[in-house]
Amino acid sequence: MNNENQGKILKFPAAFLWGVSTSAYQIEGNVDNDWSNWEKSESRIKELKSKNLNPDDFICGRACDSYNRWEEDIGLVKNLNGGAYRFSAEWARIEPEQGRFDEAAIAHYGSMVKKLKELRIEPFLTLWHWTLPLWVRDIGGWENKDTSRHFLKYAEKLADSLGEDVRFWITLNEPQTYTGLSYVAGAFPPQIKSLFRANTVFKNLMQAHSAAYRMLKQKFKDKAQVGISHYVNYHTAYGNTLLNKALARLMDYLRWQRFIDSAEPCQDFIGFQYYHHDRVKFKPGGRFIIADNVNENSATNDMGWEIYPQGIYPLLKYLKRYNKPVYITENGTADADDDHRPRFINETLRHVQQAIREGVDVRGYFHWSLLDNFEWAHGWNPKFGLYEVDRRTFERKPRSSAGLYADICKNNGIMLE
Ligand code: FCB
Repeated sequence: MNNENQGKILKFPAAFLWGVSTSAYQIEGNVDNDWSNWEKSESRIKELKSKNLNPDDFICGRACDSYNRWEEDIGLVKNLNGGAYRFSAEWARIEPEQGRFDEAAIAHYGSMVKKLKELRIEPFLTLWHWTLPLWVRDIGGWENKDTSRHFLKYAEKLADSLGEDVRFWITLNEPQTYTGLSYVAGAFPPQIKSLFRANTVFKNLMQAHSAAYRMLKQKFKDKAQVGISHYVNYHTAYGNTLLNKALARLMDYLRWQRFIDSAEPCQDFIGFQYYHHDRVKFKPGGRFIIADNVNENSATNDMGWEIYPQGIYPLLKYLKRYNKPVYITENGTADADDDHRPRFINETLRHVQQAIREGVDVRGYFHWSLLDNFEWAHGWNPKFGLYEVDRRTFERKPRSSAGLYADICKNNGIMLE
């Protein structure tokens, strides 16, 4: 410990927003959409059983029951001294059939927004976080060009209902991850493995984004700040060879840079989500056709992901070239015992602060996540929450990281050691 620094706070800029992030499907419960149906499909159950996994651990079901406990959950954001909350609306609830909008569901999100404003918590509303109504799935999901048009109507409905109170809009969550996992790796529904189809999906997603962007700007001008939450991955070269260095740069381009580029000029800010560090190694036939990831993994989280908080710094520095405000709309780690999370949060934020000091316009940080949630194809095992959730009673219990994060939000900075 450096005695000189002990007790000192490493401060963030005055208007910095501290928040937490969630998504509808992962916490709300009882939704009927493409995911909820896929989870229960015969082929999915068979696949899990063949891996000796219990299919029950992979059913979202009542999730965290947050659709009913939303006031309690917003209270938890307040307990954390959060100044912002990122959550998503569930398209399948709002438009369960094409053209039929459910006013009660819209009013539900309206009440959330009102409550947040009342508590001086800035809502960051995500319009699409990976799930689709069944009628959209049935017309081919994002492979169908018409889906972008339908998405625009849904977005417009929300804009007309909530637009007076919502300033920050995230049209799409990680379109790159969705395209990769649902249409290249075949790990998420609809489990397609086709680069060609993935490309169509990506084009339609970007089309949906720019149409929604223009609609929001037309209605609200600069009162609406609109962006995408991008997945950003840190690649380094295995063994530092020239070839691997070139491949690492190629991976940067293919896996995230071109997505940020293609969203320009339709983004008022860059939503940035960091979880992974990968060392790229030349390997014909590897995971990325000519390359593979070889990670050191000297320390890993509960999902086997390398704990590498310092990777956030070079990525933020890279974003400086866009000359746009950056919001870190997700960052976190799976850690049921809360062993490494406190250090992970502090280390991450130390690097964020350094990037800010060096001129990157980072305006907010949202920890993923408020609650232990349904972690997509990984089911219920990974625990990302600042609050634990009892799967039977739905009781929320703070992990010790919740206390640490509440202090950070209150102090607008981290304690130096
Ligand atoms: C991100 C997703 C989010 C959550 C975290 C762990 O890629 O946007 O829903 O699953 O990973």
